[in-house]
Amino acid sequence: MRKVFMVLLIAVVVLTGVFAQGAQETSGVKTYKVGVGIYQFDDNFMTLYRNEILAYFKTLETANVKYNVTIVDGKNDMAEQSNQVDNFITQGMDVIILNLVQTSSADAIIDKIVAAGIPLVLINREPLAYAKDGSTLDESYEGILKNPKVCYVGADARQSGSFQGRIIAELPDHGDVNKDGVVSYIMIEGDPENIDAQYRTEFSIKYLKDQGIKVNCLDDQVGNWAQAKGQEICANALAKYGKDIEVVFCNNDAMALGAAAAIQAAGRTVGKDIYLVGVDALDECVEMVKNGTMTGTVLNDHIGQSHTAVDVAVELLLGNPIKNYYWVDYVMVTK
Ligand code: GAL
Repeated sequence: MRKVFMVLLIAVVVLTGVFAQGAQETSGVKTYKVGVGIYQFDDNFMTLYRNEILAYFKTLETANVKYNVTIVDGKNDMAEQSNQVDNFITQGMDVIILNLVQTSSADAIIDKIVAAGIPLVLINREPLAYAKDGSTLDESYEGILKNPKVCYVGADARQSGSFQGRIIAELPDHGDVNKDGVVSYIMIEGDPENIDAQYRTEFSIKYLKDQGIKVNCLDDQVGNWAQAKGQEICANALAKYGKDIEVVFCNNDAMALGAAAAIQAAGRTVGKDIYLVGVDALDECVEMVKNGTMTGTVLNDHIGQSHTAVDVAVELLLGNPIKNYYWVDYVMVTK
């Protein structure tokens, strides 16, 4: 009997610790603790995204409700991010918003957050079902999230890739600058583990092919979403293939900014003898689309995505039911 009592006592103590979350209330003011983990602060698009998360939480505060938001930089290091998640758990966060460094580690990270009883909003990098050899199993997107307190907020990268292809297909020469009947292009990819990179690469070209346009890939390199890498890859390809390159596809705008510099340095002119497309619609790139130094881009709606993520986090804080997946549309941007 005494043993049973001790076991029950221990269970109560442990569970009280585990479920210590819940807004702190002091003189009628509720303060929720929110942990936000970003894969890497040094990323143009995720910088806009994370600043908007912070700004939007502020706008939702009232005299009686406050959000104490802690935001941390995963430095593109999964071990570092895993430690940060452990700290969030120890700190008793009421909700966590997480931009995974590696989606292949999603299961382990989700499991420990769920075990701690903390609701979780995943953003930007969707966890897909992976086979043991690391290849993606689930092509359907809405794959693995089933827990009622875990969701993903993002955009369908197939749509952004198709828009990139469409921007080129709808040009008067359909991207065939030298009129040889084939669109010769180079592809500059983001982090290859990222479904955004995989699908943008695939669907931009698929769109052209579906329109009956012939394509020829001269070069396909990984630029890891980074401007400097985009510039280096594009400069090397221009040196090697010269005028043969008719279109430069970049999986994102940061790399397109780098590519634009390389194109200019090589004495080529976007819109005249080469085309350049990106994704994100960074302010600089929208300006470049307007003045013709970029052919087009695709709006990756960081406002819509960050607001949705925060709104869902608030629903979770209130204990309201949520969906497992929330999608925000991309928008094609041309002159
Ligand atoms: C993409 C975005 C990239 C980069 C990446 C990070 O959606 O287009 O610029 O931020 O997310 O995962």
